[in-house]
Amino acid sequence: MKMKHFTYFLSLFLILITFIFSANSTIVSHDDRAITINGQRRILISGSVHYPRSTADMWPDLINKAKDGGLDAIETYVFWNAHEPERRQYDFSGNLDLVRFIKTIQGAGLYSVLRIGPYVCAEWNYGGFPVWLHNMPNMKFRTVNPSFMNEMQNFTTKIVEMMKQEKLFASQGGPIILAQIENEYGNVISSYGAEGKAYIDWCANMANSLDIGVPWLMCQQPNAPQPMIETCNGFYCDQYEPTNSSSPKMWTENWTGWFKNWGGKHPYRTAEDLAYSVARFFQTGGTFQNYYMYHGGTNFGRVAGGPYITTSYDYHAPLDEFGNLNQPKWGHLKQLHTVLKSMEKSLTYGNISRIDLGNSIKATVYTTNEGSSCFIGNVNETADALVNFQGKNYNVPAWSVSVLPDCKKEAYNTAKVNTQTSIMTEDSKKPEELEWTWRSEAAQKPILKGSGDLIAKGLVDQKDVTNDATDYLWYMTRVHLDKKDPLWSRNMSLRVHSNAHVLHAYVNGKYVGNQFVKNGKFDYRFEKKVNLVHGNNHISLLSVSVGLQNYGPFFENGPTGIKGPVSLVGYKGEETIEKDISEHQWDYKIGLNGYKNKLFSKKSVGHDLKWAAEKLPTGRMLTWYKAKFKAPLGKDPVIVDFNGLGKGEAWINGKSIGRYWPTFTSSDDGCKDECDYRGTYGSDKCNFMCGKPTQRWYHVPRSFLNKSGHNTITLFEEMGGNPSMVNFKTVVIGTVCARAHEHNKVELSCHDRPISAVKFASFGNPVGHCGSFAVGTCQGDKDAAKTVAKECVGKLNCTINVSSHKFGSALDCGVPEKKLAVEIEC
Ligand code: GAL
Repeated sequence: MKMKHFTYFLSLFLILITFIFSANSTIVSHDDRAITINGQRRILISGSVHYPRSTADMWPDLINKAKDGGLDAIETYVFWNAHEPERRQYDFSGNLDLVRFIKTIQGAGLYSVLRIGPYVCAEWNYGGFPVWLHNMPNMKFRTVNPSFMNEMQNFTTKIVEMMKQEKLFASQGGPIILAQIENEYGNVISSYGAEGKAYIDWCANMANSLDIGVPWLMCQQPNAPQPMIETCNGFYCDQYEPTNSSSPKMWTENWTGWFKNWGGKHPYRTAEDLAYSVARFFQTGGTFQNYYMYHGGTNFGRVAGGPYITTSYDYHAPLDEFGNLNQPKWGHLKQLHTVLKSMEKSLTYGNISRIDLGNSIKATVYTTNEGSSCFIGNVNETADALVNFQGKNYNVPAWSVSVLPDCKKEAYNTAKVNTQTSIMTEDSKKPEELEWTWRSEAAQKPILKGSGDLIAKGLVDQKDVTNDATDYLWYMTRVHLDKKDPLWSRNMSLRVHSNAHVLHAYVNGKYVGNQFVKNGKFDYRFEKKVNLVHGNNHISLLSVSVGLQNYGPFFENGPTGIKGPVSLVGYKGEETIEKDISEHQWDYKIGLNGYKNKLFSKKSVGHDLKWAAEKLPTGRMLTWYKAKFKAPLGKDPVIVDFNGLGKGEAWINGKSIGRYWPTFTSSDDGCKDECDYRGTYGSDKCNFMCGKPTQRWYHVPRSFLNKSGHNTITLFEEMGGNPSMVNFKTVVIGTVCARAHEHNKVELSCHDRPISAVKFASFGNPVGHCGSFAVGTCQGDKDAAKTVAKECVGKLNCTINVSSHKFGSALDCGVPEKKLAVEIEC
């Protein structure tokens, strides 16, 4: 009897639970105009935040800042090789805790877009593919290859099941409104012939069969197999029209800046141009837009793709690498989002009419029963315009869009930035002096004599033998020379055709030299003079990987390591002879002993006595360094200065903060003082930091640090450097300034410090830029600096109305709108 009751109540309970969950479920679908949520067409603004490029501790703050910035959704890829580093061995711990990440998004009340891929590109090592996958027999990636399809399906299903189990799809009441399969396959499909089409059809069917209850996306995939939604990626997608008439106009990657390569400069995309691209997209019928990246973050450990992608993946995104607001970008976009959201009904349901106002100026009117919303776009690269639209005049600068939510008043113009610029810098506190200990990479001696882990005839591909478990592979062989050898009595050199991202060569235990790629050509010829002896000569080549290729058709087969031929060349007068040693027996040694012994970890093999404190070497290759330090106080992000070091990897309390390479500087040319926002942006258009290290400062997440007590930094210095200049700092706001337009408000803040003084203020036609403002040919008759000081000094933030009334009227500055330039001190 009791049992019966129990079963009865249990079923009632289950019915109730099912009811609660189905009542919570969100119906996500789409028509040709927009994504619909519970039947309503929506304007959706999303931003990419890749969970492994920050720490779980940082996620809530990043997501809240994204929400505050006006985002509806957070997009992320899923990183296969991070989650399945060895076949069927999974890792979802720490910053790989995907469920926790999605739940953090849910907790903030945002939607999420899950781009499973599992090919992701993303400047991520090998585009997200595990190298063991490549090393499976008969393997071919991204085509109708049974082994590949089986593994891809296995991983995709695993992720979908994890999400389902936690009820994370919108159809289950969760935040995930969209998912993606594959990534930009349309860009490469033609290289795969007929199999390409068969593969993408299979992807669609496979994804569909997983029954997630929300739509699937395929980015850059014209004519995507139905019901997949095709989308656009790029710096601009206003010209894009979906090939499939049932797909809404969606933009999955609006590149907010660009990534960096070692030896490259700092790319910079202006807030004006980024806002322009967004406003153009919505003016031309777009309804979903995602920023790639909204927060770029850091390539910790060895996750950087490549080759040669830097550890910083800042991307010049609206949130900087450390999670600070990148101003004015963040704020300028926030204002745009507010305005666009206020127009949601007319943009998604309104009738559209386009009016040509001449001179490449076009207005678009969206009309519903309730009213109209308008855009006026000026695509001229230099000609500002004063346009008459529906009886009123509007000043629409070149390469800008004005947004008029009621078609009567300009609420926003993409080129009129009324958000402060914050220039971040390192704090000015005297850094702690570190006491270093060191030891050499113990492997060296036996290695230089040629003893390894495996032997093969000829040269092997690096990733085929290392499975990419390490950056390092030694190639070692012996060459016997006697006096009768035709090479003898000649000037000899060692010649190596190489794809090694970095190559170090030793002959008979002596260092001969190194080489790496400087301008993007990935195979090169190394040649250096060598002295050989009678008898056996040991040739040891250390091949170093700096991130595996992540893009292009068949990128997985790109050669890595020393491709060969390797030869000894003898010169005598005009006559040259070459002795090819590629087909010799080669010994291979995978990885370095210091890594194997975990010298970067507390659990390292061997004891501390082996670290020497005396005679700290500088400029010494293959050397380990270690020091203790105190964590900088406070909450500001921590960075470490690696100026003085060569190239290598760094760990904080055993956690890798990535590869470093401060000696790799960019070329001196191609930088400008200021970036003109006008005209089409490309990744090379605006560069900063010419002739400087591509990356000097490295992010040390707060969660890697012990707040009190000691912390340990370990370095593996591959090329030789001087650690005595290494120091820890925090990132703080240095300069704050603004150039706000009349009839607008501008908010000033030093983040969590009070504003201490006003350095400069002028209302009229001020000149110069942040840090170098000067009074123009006219300015208001009231003391602008005094007015700003009165409203701001001593406060955490202040909002100033930029008006003639406040700063002085009756001015004719010869410009359509006056501006307030101001610089404050924090
Ligand atoms: C796209 C790709 C992204 C990323 C981007 C450049 O083609 O889909 O994953 O690599 O380029 O940052």
